[in-house]
Amino acid sequence: MAIRSRTSAPRSREAGKVDDVVAMLDWHAGNHGVRRLREWAHRALAVRPGERAIDIGAGTGSETHRLAEATGEAIGVEPNPGLRSVAVQRSRSARFIDGDTLSLPFDDGSVDVVWCERVFQHLADSSKVAREVARVLRPGGRAAVLDTDSGTTILYPGDRVVGEAVACSTLDAAVDPYAGRKISGHLAQAGLEIEDVGSQALHQDGTSFNWSFVRMLADTAVRAERITAEQRDAFLDDLHVGAEQYALHMSVTMFAVLARSAHRRQLVLAQLRRERCSPLLHRVVFPGWHCVDHRCGTIGCGLFEGV
Ligand SMILES: C[S@@+](CC[C@H](N)C(=O)[O-])C[C@H]1O[C@@H](n2cnc3c(N)ncnc32)[C@H](O)[C@@H]1O
Repeated sequence: MAIRSRTSAPRSREAGKVDDVVAMLDWHAGNHGVRRLREWAHRALAVRPGERAIDIGAGTGSETHRLAEATGEAIGVEPNPGLRSVAVQRSRSARFIDGDTLSLPFDDGSVDVVWCERVFQHLADSSKVAREVARVLRPGGRAAVLDTDSGTTILYPGDRVVGEAVACSTLDAAVDPYAGRKISGHLAQAGLEIEDVGSQALHQDGTSFNWSFVRMLADTAVRAERITAEQRDAFLDDLHVGAEQYALHMSVTMFAVLARSAHRRQLVLAQLRRERCSPLLHRVVFPGWHCVDHRCGTIGCGLFEGV
């Protein structure tokens, strides 16, 4: 696969905290909801041997590895050198390169499959990423874009209003905490056809929380004056009682959007297969393309290549 060399290399903010990030990504990968949603998206993508697949913001490369197993060739784009090195150690079948999703190092229409998971949440304007995904996909190429939406966080039991104020603290953790709900719109605006949208609630075990995380969220809500210290303490007490009764619920919803690049050229191609080709038609419909097998004007052409 042709890969453009990179001129600017913005570093991930997570550099330097690699072990923590790897632990977080591993925890995430083990979550049942994540596993179900990934499984669903991979099955829908139905990657075939020989296809060119990329994983944008590959992290530890778990999904790049999976794509590589299906295609034989998959590239993970990961700007964080620490994560990239973990990904390289963990996967022998995939390749990993430095790169920025806002300027992907791939030519137009050169990729069959794009996987992009939990990257939109790191960017203030994901519409640019969506445009990059659309740019690198071949006509008919497929994309799976997955992200959580922190606005869907539920904490239960306890006072509902206090619970919502505490859940609000999760909104501070991402550049775009509402990334999940925006995926379809961004991809559609970039010219991709939305094929399906799936979702899973990622929830923690009913009897135990990551208590230090929940306390941190509650403390943040107090500092932001959304709740008082007394409300925080009462809420945390209610959660502990809930834990004893297997009634704890902490969840956030993750969305997966499956999209395909426009088929316009493919439809015209199918028409050309049925009818006689003409150089004029090619110039008008496929500017910059050439007919590989019959060089136009002979019989119906079936193969075209970008030039
Ligand atoms: C939450 S992690 C997700 C990793 C992996 N996709 C997964 O789901 O396990 C977000 C990833 O996006 C990467 N990332 C952040 N900004 C990026 C950018 N501008 N271009 C490419 N990747 C980026 C981070 O380095 C990190 O690996």
